[in-house]
Amino acid sequence: MIMATIYYTATTLDGYLADDEDSLDWLFVQEHDDAGAFGYPAFIERVGAIVMGGTTYRWVLDHLARSGGAWEYTQPTWVFTTRPGGVPDGADIRYATGDVAPVHAQMITAAGDRDVWIVGGGDLAGQFADAGLLDEIIVSIAPVTLGSGRPLLPRRLDLRTVEVARNGAFAAVRYAVER
Ligand SMILES: NC(=O)c1ccc[n+]([C@@H]2O[C@H](COP(=O)([O-])OP(=O)(O)OC[C@H]3O[C@@H](n4cnc5c(N)ncnc54)[C@H](OP(=O)(O)O)[C@@H]3O)[C@@H](O)[C@H]2O)c1
Repeated sequence: MIMATIYYTATTLDGYLADDEDSLDWLFVQEHDDAGAFGYPAFIERVGAIVMGGTTYRWVLDHLARSGGAWEYTQPTWVFTTRPGGVPDGADIRYATGDVAPVHAQMITAAGDRDVWIVGGGDLAGQFADAGLLDEIIVSIAPVTLGSGRPLLPRRLDLRTVEVARNGAFAAVRYAVER
């Protein structure tokens, strides 16, 4: 299998990653099967490097603080932010700013024959697309609309539908990014 740079995420039908308060309450109530189509366990097994934006990272840290949970990613994780902060125990965090291209090169090296996962947010995924570095988008679309929130992918892109499946409440689609 050829490694790829993949934006893998869940979204509302109207294209939001989170509501205006960065809440994912609409997501966690949805029925889904981890072992089903585009399930997370099989996806993360193929991931060798992770990248996320500052808001997403701070959301994860808040979530861990509230739940008492531990950092779950074993892969090196790049965080794009102008406000570097703490690092949870056991996490391999590499802060970054500016151009995504040199960071992507480091991620490819770190990932070896595995995939690069762009966690989000949408504009960060867009920065990789702008640089011609985004290969695939895998979205699980929840049967919810929010009306406003954090956008899935605020860019004009042409995509090719590669695979469509249902997982519980979600319609899941894999797209290839046309260059
Ligand atoms: N539905 C899902 O599965 C899913 C997936 C991912 C995320 N989310 C949620 O969706 C929301 C996403 O938030 P968001 O859209 O604000 O996106 P984000 O990418 O998480 O954070 C955006 C911030 O990252 C920093 N940043 C981005 N690019 C940068 C660059 N090139 N150089 C330096 N800093 C850069 C900037 O702020 P700072 O410098 O202030 O950090 C920017 O405001 C979060 O609530 C997250 O939890 C949901």
